[in-house]
Amino acid sequence: AVRFSRKVKRSTWDSQSRMADVANRLQATIIGRRVVRSFNTEQFEIGRFQQVLQGLVRADLKALKYIALTPPVIEIIGALAMGSVAAFAGWRIAAGGLDPGDFVAALAAMYWMYTILKRFARFGNDLTRGAIAAERVFAILDREREVVEAADAMIMPPFSREIRFRNAHFSYGGNPVLCGIDLTLKRGEKVALVGASGAGKTTLVNLMPRFYDVDTGTVEIDGVDIRRFTLASLRAQIGLVSQEVILFNDSLHANIAYGCPRASLAQVVAAARAAHAHEFIMALPEGYETVLQEGGQSLSAGQRQRVAIARALLKDAPVLILDEATSALDSQHESLVQAALDVLLRERTAIIIAHRLATVRAADRIVVLENGLIVEDGTHDQLLARGGVYTRLHRLPMDTATSRHP
Ligand SMILES: Nc1ncnc2c1ncn2[C@@H]1O[C@H](COP(=O)(O)OP(=O)(O)OP(=O)(O)O)[C@@H](O)[C@H]1O
Ligand SMILES: [Mg+2]
Repeated sequence: AVRFSRKVKRSTWDSQSRMADVANRLQATIIGRRVVRSFNTEQFEIGRFQQVLQGLVRADLKALKYIALTPPVIEIIGALAMGSVAAFAGWRIAAGGLDPGDFVAALAAMYWMYTILKRFARFGNDLTRGAIAAERVFAILDREREVVEAADAMIMPPFSREIRFRNAHFSYGGNPVLCGIDLTLKRGEKVALVGASGAGKTTLVNLMPRFYDVDTGTVEIDGVDIRRFTLASLRAQIGLVSQEVILFNDSLHANIAYGCPRASLAQVVAAARAAHAHEFIMALPEGYETVLQEGGQSLSAGQRQRVAIARALLKDAPVLILDEATSALDSQHESLVQAALDVLLRERTAIIIAHRLATVRAADRIVVLENGLIVEDGTHDQLLARGGVYTRLHRLPMDTATSRHP
């Protein structure tokens, strides 16, 4: 009997840890969905997900062999329920035709199940809270799913002249955030976008790779409405370094080569060197093969950023969106990140959401977003001379950033 219960424990434990694998992948993919989309790696993620699912189903079947003979354990029930959802999702994926949007929705459903079960197992009956959390996830995903590719979408030609926002309006479920944006970025230009927190800066740049579509107005690249391009070809030409750096629980090599599976080690190292990440990576026990845990929480903020910059360098897209982190870095990291950014920005057309004066000053032009509109546009000196919104903003967080690092 002792041996038997040990077997049960082991198989349940295995099933549990597989469930954790699935949950980790889920979480990473949902949190990192914009990274997934901007690197066009939906198919890759489907394959990866399928693998962890298979592992879970296999472990679940093993646990099932013993379950009838032991007192019911809530964890086993949880694992089994999760397994059945996994099997269902796996079946839908295997049956083919699961489009990337459905894939994300399937992930959300799984995540929802997992959240409920986890709470259920821990607190007994916290089902409603799980359901509410799930509803929120769905609401966000549904909004994002409204982006559809035109039936006759064409491959976007290489970017050559300009990106233009024309009277662009956008609202989140009736709450207007952008109320008529007119903005042109010429090829090679670096435009800094500044504005108070919540002004809509991230929202504005998210329109470029079509994470959202405008409600009215247009976003045009080289005179063509971006909705006429295939999503993959549009996103292939736009690099993204997001405000929150998303790293996967995978090796540093894989994290840098994310979206460029054919990149050679030499190319990965070259990108890391250019991003000033090579040194700290080499100091890790397994160098480029070091596997990150919990989305790279063991790295410092500045290190994570440099990994994200290396990733964008490797992708080498002509257009770059840089959503600068709001959290302050210590000065040593700040100068390394700045140096990495200088390399990344070279020769590219970029829109940079800037929180630090150093970044603002590096831009050719600064635009200020307020109340859903661009209210000021000019160089640092021009805007300071105006004594308007920029001057006010400039006195607040950016000023403290400079006084820390004169
Ligand atoms: N997915 C969303 N659903 C609903 N509202 C949202 C969503 N994302 C952002 N918002 C809201 O839209 C407004 C603009 O948000 P956004 O993230 O674009 O601001 P931001 O200028 O990037 O701010 P920060 O400097 O803090 O990053 C905010 O009021 C925010 O609460
Ligand atoms: Mg933002």
